[in-house]
Amino acid sequence: MTRTAAARARANIALVKYWGKRDLRLNLPATGSLSMTCSSLVTETRVTFDDAAPRDEVLADGAAAPEAFRQRASRFLDRVRSLAGMAAFARVETRATFPVASGLASSSSGFAALALASTRAAGLDLPLPALAALAREGSGSAPRSLLGGFVELPAGMSPDGSDCVPVQVAAADAWDVRLVIAVNGAGEKAVGSTEGMERSRATSPFYPAWIARGAGDLEAAKAALAARDLPALGRVAEANAFSMHAVALSSNPPILYWNAATVDAVNRVRALRAEGAGAWVTIDAGPHVKVLCGPGDAAAVADALRGVAGVTEVRVERPGEGAEVLG
Ligand code: PMV
Repeated sequence: MTRTAAARARANIALVKYWGKRDLRLNLPATGSLSMTCSSLVTETRVTFDDAAPRDEVLADGAAAPEAFRQRASRFLDRVRSLAGMAAFARVETRATFPVASGLASSSSGFAALALASTRAAGLDLPLPALAALAREGSGSAPRSLLGGFVELPAGMSPDGSDCVPVQVAAADAWDVRLVIAVNGAGEKAVGSTEGMERSRATSPFYPAWIARGAGDLEAAKAALAARDLPALGRVAEANAFSMHAVALSSNPPILYWNAATVDAVNRVRALRAEGAGAWVTIDAGPHVKVLCGPGDAAAVADALRGVAGVTEVRVERPGEGAEVLG
């Protein structure tokens, strides 16, 4: 017997980052974060539980996924099997419209889509807190991709993580902004986010200061969002991202996610800003530069980033919708 379901989720980009965990086993963040779910960074995943399957199988874009990826998905499916009280192995077929594992937040859409598709295929219709807890075990940023628009993930204080549930702060159609993404460099990121966060927590002298500023950045970003004040949100987001990278750089051994194109792109955005554009950068655990701006500045920002040596693709994202089950 087979049971199947498919789901779609979109990657989110954090404007106030999470970098550090308060509980490694439950994958709970040490600070709250705020993200924008993107309109066209889409992952679609179908999960088919099959009583006759000899083991879990993962196909990414039609080809067998690397073994490490298959094992990560298989451990995730173990959780779903234990929640549903079932034993069947599954075939996972996943497709993304953008490069995976390179700091473009593919794990956020990937695990949000996998959580939704696998639970539905297993006959479960989980409420948001339970679905978010499951998605979080796959990736700390994945719960934010369950919801659309602008999403807060509070750190919470409860040891079991029951108060770490994503909240939509503004819907996708509530504020017309853009994130212009300059993709540069392909392939896997140098240091995975979990390893990087743990290294920063254990070794960076700036880690306590980073954790201490988190709540203030989150409140300032939410106030800017409520007021639809793009310069205020941009300034908080840019400062927060540079602080996260300061912590990564001051870890031992140091973690450097940037390359030459990253720095050139940041400088291009600064030059545009000096000329009057409203544009602010954020950077995640990879070399790509993401620029928050208004719709009127997006074309100029995209053109400027296309002129940066090493930038291979420029995407213009709007706020997008949350995860959905496909028919
Ligand atoms: O979800 P993870 O484990 O890939 O961690 C995400 C870390 C950052 O993208 C750097 C920040 C964030 O809040 O998304």
